[in-house]
Amino acid sequence: MKRQQSFSGKLAVHGGVPVRKTPVPSFPHGTSEIGEREIRAVVKVLRRKTIFRFLNQPEVSESARLEAAYRKYTGCKHALAIGSGGTTALVSALVGLGVGAGDEVILPGYTYIATAAACIVVNAVPVICEVDHSLTMDPRDLEKKITRHTRAIIPVHMRGTPCRMRKILAVARRHKLKVLEDVAQANGGSYRGAKLGALGDAGAFSFQHYKIITSGEGGMVITNDKTVYQRACLAHDSAMVFWSRGENWLRPFAGENYRMCELRAALGLVQFGRLDWILNRCRAVKRRIVEGIGDLPHIRLQDVPDPDGDCGISLVFYLPDSKRAQTFSEALKREGVPNGTMFNQGIPDRHIYCHWEYVMNKWSRDRLGLPWNRAIYKGNVRYSRDMCPNTLHWLGRAIALHLHQRLTVRDADDIVRAIRKVAVA
Ligand SMILES: Cc1ncc(COP(=O)(O)O)c(C=O)c1O
Repeated sequence: MKRQQSFSGKLAVHGGVPVRKTPVPSFPHGTSEIGEREIRAVVKVLRRKTIFRFLNQPEVSESARLEAAYRKYTGCKHALAIGSGGTTALVSALVGLGVGAGDEVILPGYTYIATAAACIVVNAVPVICEVDHSLTMDPRDLEKKITRHTRAIIPVHMRGTPCRMRKILAVARRHKLKVLEDVAQANGGSYRGAKLGALGDAGAFSFQHYKIITSGEGGMVITNDKTVYQRACLAHDSAMVFWSRGENWLRPFAGENYRMCELRAALGLVQFGRLDWILNRCRAVKRRIVEGIGDLPHIRLQDVPDPDGDCGISLVFYLPDSKRAQTFSEALKREGVPNGTMFNQGIPDRHIYCHWEYVMNKWSRDRLGLPWNRAIYKGNVRYSRDMCPNTLHWLGRAIALHLHQRLTVRDADDIVRAIRKVAVA
């Protein structure tokens, strides 16, 4: 695209004509593509009347086919479909990795509260580290947060942005820590050619309504390690060995029920067929917008550790301070471009650590006060709302736009024009 001329009309917020008068397609990605193919696939399972995966042969089971699709796509040896979501995919993977009571797990201060919740559910203590201007885990702060109780690290590929995996994996190797990638928001993304989720010891996906593709609720655990896989299987079904067909299994332990249902898997399989198409469209739109605004002096684009592997589902840029970010965001909205600031006085966004009440206050669900009970946990984690100032600094200056696969070239150019108009005003 030729560099856009700056549009210097009167801002809509001051009574001028908005750049965009009709709505631009937005959120959610997979859900908005649900069509006849999804309907037919789900109805087919209903007609077959075998909605429970283990009553089907693997070649007929939708859940088994979804797992096979993820094994092939990510190159991982094992995949386990989860029916209830990304949170329980994380829980199963943490159990798979042997993380439990007394352990610390380091995660970034910018992720959905579910990442921390999953640690607490397995009785491990979440330790919060900074994100940098990629809005993903800062590897330097990660290393500072390691103690002798640390067992695992959860890098989170937020908003489809791949984390700084090379540095994170190097830290993990140095300290002999397990790495569980939270890929809930970055299904299909990659880092230096490897699919996200396949770089660490395990990866956990979400197929919830708002994710890149959906099965309504659901998720996936992937790993190359058979023991991690089998432990995750045991965690996801209280009687897993009952269903396992004659393979050599670990000694069982109690699990819960996070099994995938065939209806969800059928929906997920059709959606999986749309994944690369969605990502390619989003990436093309993002490239066009980034190219169109890259020269603007007062805005700084989010640093993306591997732009080729970025999912392209979101555009984030920073203003010099939070006041200017808020003014900019409002003016951009009035130009007809939906966007939002990320950390402000408005809704307590549960993607930002200071709004994780039950973590900040160590509110436990049991009488013993797990996972922070001092008889079991020998560390000394402390939480406070201002404990990650860099995270709040970057989020406080940031403006985010969702990018949808149905945005046209004209939509992308309108977004560029609107951003340029506000930036030069
Ligand atoms: C980064 C991240 N991790 C985990 C989850 C949890 O996924 P689910 O809602 O499917 O349990 C989400 C969902 O919003 C998420 O965004």
